[in-house]
Amino acid sequence: MVTIAPSLLAADFADLRGQIALAERGGADWLHLDVMDGRFVPNITIGPPVIRALRRCTSLPFDVHLMIESPDLYLEEFRSSGADSITVHYETCPHLHRTVQKIKSLGARAGVCINPATPESLLSGILAEADMILVMTVNPGFGGQTFIASSVEKVRRTAALIRSTHPGMYLEVDGGIDESTARPVVEAGAGVLVAGKAIFGAKDIPAAVRSLRATAQGG
Ligand code: DX5
Ligand code: ZN
Repeated sequence: MVTIAPSLLAADFADLRGQIALAERGGADWLHLDVMDGRFVPNITIGPPVIRALRRCTSLPFDVHLMIESPDLYLEEFRSSGADSITVHYETCPHLHRTVQKIKSLGARAGVCINPATPESLLSGILAEADMILVMTVNPGFGGQTFIASSVEKVRRTAALIRSTHPGMYLEVDGGIDESTARPVVEAGAGVLVAGKAIFGAKDIPAAVRSLRATAQGG
């Protein structure tokens, strides 16, 4: 069973409530929310006030992806605004173990994300603690980018690491996931698929969610 997490980054920002309802109608499992600070990544998106407002629009779990420097400063605020999982980047956390413990102590699922150039072997010290690993399959910062082909093998290696250390934890992929890349990453071991353009860029959003799930599950 694959978890489908539509990324709101590709949605019509003038109608977030309506767009979320369409994703929900298609059977989305989580909603992926991309937070960018214009420092760690060269783009600026949304923060806690928007997440707090969206929390009133849906009961879908909120999968919050923090592409920000010094995420520790904002963990409480993101949790209280409605995040069910909080994912931080390995590259932004000099005290990653402490950050992960903090997220868990707030009652959220703790995710750790690695950029395309960060080797999965660096996760070995945190695998036993984290609840989820997110492998970026594009360089973070923008939606609609092309999937980096070598990511499939990276997902396979990460899945093997997880199996030997912390079986059962979530393995998520993010960036360029669509009808052509979904099945290969799932076969490589990914269980959570984030998709922005492939879902919110589609004419029929509910159908796009259903179709991505069917493709991902090999149906
Ligand atoms: C990119 C974000 C992604 C983005 C994915 O930095 O983390 O979540 O929205 O968009 P697509 O699916 O369009 O590549
Ligand atoms: Zn993301």
